[in-house]
Amino acid sequence: MKFNTTQRAFGQVETAALLIATFEGESEAGLSHLVNTTGGGNLAAQASLEKFSGKIGQTLLHYPSGVAAKRVVLFGLGQRDKLTTAQLRKALVAAFKVVRAQKVNEVTIADVSLAGTKVSAAQYAEIAATVSGLVDYEINHNKTEGVLGYIPRPELEEMRFLSTGKVPSKVRKALSRGRVIAQAVNSARDLSNLPAGELTPDAFVAEARRVADESGGLITMKVWNQADMAILGAGGILAVGKGSDEPCFLIEMVYTPPTGATRDVLTYVGKTVCFDSGGYDLKPADGMRHMKRDMSGGAAVLATLEAIANLQLPISVKAYMAPVENMVSGRAFKPGDRIRMMNGLKVEVDNTDAEGRLTLADMITHARNRADAGQNVYIVDVATLTGAIRQVNSDVAAGLFSNNDAFARRLKAAGERVGEQYEHLTMWPELRDFNKAEMADLKNTGGPAGAGATTAAWFVREFAGEETPWIHLDIASVAFRDREFGVDPKGSTGFAVQTLVELAVDFAKGNAKK
Ligand code: BES
Ligand code: MN
Ligand code: ZN
Repeated sequence: MKFNTTQRAFGQVETAALLIATFEGESEAGLSHLVNTTGGGNLAAQASLEKFSGKIGQTLLHYPSGVAAKRVVLFGLGQRDKLTTAQLRKALVAAFKVVRAQKVNEVTIADVSLAGTKVSAAQYAEIAATVSGLVDYEINHNKTEGVLGYIPRPELEEMRFLSTGKVPSKVRKALSRGRVIAQAVNSARDLSNLPAGELTPDAFVAEARRVADESGGLITMKVWNQADMAILGAGGILAVGKGSDEPCFLIEMVYTPPTGATRDVLTYVGKTVCFDSGGYDLKPADGMRHMKRDMSGGAAVLATLEAIANLQLPISVKAYMAPVENMVSGRAFKPGDRIRMMNGLKVEVDNTDAEGRLTLADMITHARNRADAGQNVYIVDVATLTGAIRQVNSDVAAGLFSNNDAFARRLKAAGERVGEQYEHLTMWPELRDFNKAEMADLKNTGGPAGAGATTAAWFVREFAGEETPWIHLDIASVAFRDREFGVDPKGSTGFAVQTLVELAVDFAKGNAKK
């Protein structure tokens, strides 16, 4: 989608849809101003008829007469002094859904006076650009026009930002930031929606290679194949991959800002299981149906790195992904197997379907081994790790676990700013023992006691240690849904991309101060 700015009076804008924000309780003044400048018909009457008062989430679709715009979409921002970026996001989601239903391919959003709010004009522009790109996402179903009545929806190709005065460069930059972020989330959605027969582990490596190649030298990439991983001792990843005919890999990507490497290094680790059959602890059909999406964490991490490089944020960021398939065959790992992890710990395979934590553990060990002396490493892993996390908050929030409360608060706050919800769950020390094994140091399930998301987090924490600030995001509840939810379509959501970019923005700010 293209973003442009335009400077014109409201009534003269030739556009398929003109979006205008209105604060609650100010609608009378706002509307009559609009009516006067557009000369446009009965907008105020329609607003009162439909009881449009400017609340968050309220919208009004109006067909004006005597003005250049074909449609006017009014949308509420709630009370002026209460506006937050989170509320603004909700308001814009509602507005752009009205636009989507109109099947237009071009739209204009009017600037609004934000005096007396905590939201800046740049934030307004960035969120509008992000939300318009996210709401417009549609899965490429590879559907054929006309077959079974399918008619493709026209894409939103252009969004213009209308201002009656000169558009400041801050606002222009914010628009392009918003576009970069929306593109990143949508490319994570695309990857996660791809069938496992198409996005094999080596195809994932190729996609990562494309991101590195297109970064203008800002991202370097290294790949370890199975022989290399045997030398590294990556017994966790290799055990999971053994049963598949598709070879598995371990990817490292390093983003160095144009201004040079920083002391703080954000390290993102993504679960990249390209298909999870469960292995010999085979999943039932219902549970297996969507396991092409078990690489959503890796997709989010990859898309995040691409966005960070496009934004040229002044913070060093590393990414680790181990694309692998969990399959059944004569070579597959078996329940009861004992494996030696990259850090030397021995793990008893209690269940071959608890494969994600085995791959995360080795990736985290590797990330820690690869850190340069004098760098402060902050690890965030992102994984569709447990079905159990869905018991906590249904598909509404992801689980957050950490060994460092300050770091956890920082990530959760970043999530709040971008409209991604996390519940910080306590890692009760008593639950750690549930991972004890008879034949090894650890087993890869917490047994039948419950708290499956937390025992999985404890397993991963054994490898992260206590010194390196570490966060585990269990996104199994939100990485894909069987319904539309807020800005997310049905299917893969690209969850965590916006949070991880926002966290990097936050770290970049801290870095600039040093
Ligand atoms: N990939 C699954 C978790 C999952 C479930 C993701 C549903 C998305 C939706 C993971 O590998 C898994 O199978 N976990 C098991 C662990 C158990 C065997 C200890 C689970 O949650 O049942
Ligand atoms: Mn599994
Ligand atoms: Zn899995």
